[in-house]
Order: sequence, then structure tokens, then C-alpha cells
Amino acid sequence: MTTLQKPSPCKVNLLLNILGKRPDGFHELETVFHPVKFFDQLTFERSGNGIQLTCSDAALPVDASNLVYRAAAKFLGTAGIREGVRIHLEKHIPVAAGLGGGSGNAAITLLGLNELFGQPMPVAQLQVIAASLGSDINFFLQEKPALAVGRGEQIEAVEHFSALRGASFFLIHPGFGISTPWAYRELARFPTAQNGQPGRARRLIEKLQAGDLVAAAPEFYNSLEAPALEKYPVLALYQEFFRAHGAAATLMSGSGSTTFALFQKPSEAEAMLEKFPGRFGPPGWMAAVPV
Ligand code: C5P
Repeated sequence: MTTLQKPSPCKVNLLLNILGKRPDGFHELETVFHPVKFFDQLTFERSGNGIQLTCSDAALPVDASNLVYRAAAKFLGTAGIREGVRIHLEKHIPVAAGLGGGSGNAAITLLGLNELFGQPMPVAQLQVIAASLGSDINFFLQEKPALAVGRGEQIEAVEHFSALRGASFFLIHPGFGISTPWAYRELARFPTAQNGQPGRARRLIEKLQAGDLVAAAPEFYNSLEAPALEKYPVLALYQEFFRAHGAAATLMSGSGSTTFALFQKPSEAEAMLEKFPGRFGPPGWMAAVPV
């Protein structure tokens, strides 16, 4: 095989409970990741030597500051592969959005190159590389919802939630981003949010597995909303609007700024594609995506 194309999905955090700051500067946390079937596309081709990365979005770097490039370099180096690769990234997921788009791209690059070169690496080794590249990348090496702990890189896959069967996400990116390091830094001003009690993630998972989304809704929680909603109160208005229009649950994802709402019926999420701009004007990006 010399070329390979793979979709690269995104995620939301149904819960992000930060438990405290660690000596290494990262934050200990528990989070519930859920895959979202909205995709970038990655194309891999064995070619020449070195790494040639191209991207449909001219605003994104294509050098070693791009996670795809770093993932490819680490994969080829660790596997001792001398051959080169050409990689094209077609970007649809908004960047720096709390949707894990870049993390997903890095994970799919590891999986894609492993496939392209005949599976030289066991999954356990891909997991080590993924964790060295960033906190959210390991989640994307698999396809189920997951509980994650540590700094987010320790993944325990869980079965699909019966409470979300037939539901749809409405996702909105307002057009401004929130830097992840900024959100974590600012969290220091909110000691209660920075030092959460563990156990909330398992509680949410149990309720979602019990099958009642309305009963699970009060358990949705994101510590990083403390700094984010203070600086960008419009994000709280979005949530109020979604609730008023029938959303069962709504939350900012990750470090934001993307906010999502869960609707029991796909038609309710679809209707938001008109209602939302009607109330707030055209957003940076929005999508209605069945769970
Ligand atoms: O690992 P990742 O590159 O996604 O992290 C980006 C930044 O977010 C880190 O440099 C750190 O400032 C912050 N972070 C954190 N605790 C985590 C994950 C990320 O403090 N668990």
C-alpha cells in the first residue's frame, strides 16, 4: 500500500473535573470524552524521504510546530523507518476550539502511518508516543467514549451511553478561540474549580449508562467554565438559549470556546442551525451532528 486516506474525528468533554495542580505544571483531572462524528481528512503517501505536510488551511503551520508533523517524525524515528511520507490535512474542525481537532489529527497520523508501513508498532508503543505529544491524543487512538484521568492521557474506554441513543449534538464555535494554557493559568483564581473532588466522572457515566439523559444532565460539568465564562459571558448566554429551546444538557467543551448542546431529537439540533444565527448572528462555525 502506498497511499491511505483516513477521517479524523473530534470530541467533546461531557465532564471536565480538575482535581488540582501538579508539581510538573499540568493539572490532575478526570474527564469524560465523547467522540463527535465531524471529521478532518488525512491522506498519507509513502514518498521520497523526510516529511512533507500540506494543509487546506493556509493559517496552520506545516512545519514541526504542527502536531501532525511531530507525530509523523516521532513515529518514523521510533520505528527506524528511513523512507519519507507526504501527508495532506484537509481541515474542517475549528482549531483551538476545545474539540481536540489537532489531537485527533496526531492520533490518526500515528494509526495511519502504522497501517501504511505494515503495522511495525504495537498499540502500546503508539500510546507512549501519543502521551508524549499531548494530553488528549490517546483518546483518539480508539473510538469509544472514555473516562480519562491523570492529565487526560490515561484512557478507560466505556460502552456507548444508552441515554444518548438517538440524540444529536449542536456545536457552536463563536469565532474567537480560548488558549488552553490561558484557561488553566486563570483557573488559579478559582480555587474551588481548580481543586475538584474526584468521583463526578464515574457518577456521570453511571447515569448516562442508566439511560435517562434528563436525569444525567445536572452531572455535566466543566471546571474551565469558571475562567472562560467570566471573560466571555456570551458563552453563558448561549447555554441559556439552548436550555430555553429544549436542550437536555449544554456545556463548554474542554478549554473552549466551542459550546455544545444535546438534544433528544435530531430535528431539534437541526432547527438550531437557523435559530442560533437568528438570535446571535452568524457564528464562526456550527454543526448539528447525530451522536
Ligand atoms: O497537553 P496539551 O498540549 O494539550 O496541554 C496544553 C497546555 O494545557 C499545557 O501546556 C498546560 O498548560 C495545560 N494543561 C494542564 N493540565 C492538563 C492538560 C493541559 O495544565 N491536564
